[in-house]
Amino acid sequence: MDQFKTWIECIEERISVRTFDNRNLKQDDFVKINEFITECLKETKTPIKFKILSSQTDEHSNQKFGTYGFINGTNNFIVGIIDKIKTDPVEFGYTMEKVVLYATCLGFGTCWLGGTFNRNQFENVLNLNENESIGVLIAIGIKKDKQSFVDRAVRYAAKSNQRKPWEELFYLDDIETPLLKSSFDKYDKVIEMVRIAPSASNKQPWRIIKNGNMFHFYLSRTPNYGVLGFDIQMNDIGIAMCHFELSAKELGLAGKWTKLDKSNLDGLEYIVSWINTY
Ligand SMILES: Cc1cc2nc3c(=O)[nH]c(=O)nc-3n(C[C@H](O)[C@H](O)[C@H](O)COP(=O)(O)O)c2cc1C
Repeated sequence: MDQFKTWIECIEERISVRTFDNRNLKQDDFVKINEFITECLKETKTPIKFKILSSQTDEHSNQKFGTYGFINGTNNFIVGIIDKIKTDPVEFGYTMEKVVLYATCLGFGTCWLGGTFNRNQFENVLNLNENESIGVLIAIGIKKDKQSFVDRAVRYAAKSNQRKPWEELFYLDDIETPLLKSSFDKYDKVIEMVRIAPSASNKQPWRIIKNGNMFHFYLSRTPNYGVLGFDIQMNDIGIAMCHFELSAKELGLAGKWTKLDKSNLDGLEYIVSWINTY
């Protein structure tokens, strides 16, 4: 893989970019991204498709894709297509975020779009099967230094430069005891990489309870929040898992994902656990 930075550097560098400078990606960049996507899709267990829509590479070159003014200066998108019944939104989010981080490594700006795009227009162009729809898409391009007014306004409204503090997200043994940072624990860095992950409307719905050599992931749902037909907060959990796994592996912390027989806690849905094996 053509990657010049570490995953941790890419995670730390990524922010949502909504202002691009109108330059296009090179043909070679599309090839690299497509090759990376092909590698990622070899590991997925549920149906996920990606399609790159670009002024350069496809037959819709004259069409300006609609994002209600949220995205400026690019007409390139990586669209994630789901099977309405079979696709696992956690796996989808995990896979799509890997693609986002790879694009970041290559030097591109990206922005996840779950809501602010003209769904009908995109879906018409894609000729989807009856059982398919768009899960989420990614705007991609070359970042412009000066952010547009909309970009700044969205960042301000979503408090995009901020994240919840550790003690509201991460716990030790039970949900009553906040997990404290400890200077000798390598997992601190891994957990911090989850904290800075993107999430829909910056809701940060992931919670982790550390217990011995296990890290249990839970979803704290935002009431009445979601996009019809796609569980966007489960998608956020997949993004968090992607950050956790890539950082852990990069730091030499071997482990594996396992779904344990655990119950939900008050207000928290149990999703999966990382069992540390190093
Ligand atoms: C699943 C998902 C969907 C998102 N949908 C949109 C969207 O429709 N429009 C938008 O402008 N930003 C969208 N965002 C970007 C978030 O607002 C952003 O990730 C969050 O505010 C944190 O900011 P950061 O990405 O710059 O760290 C989405 C992010 C995620 C993860």
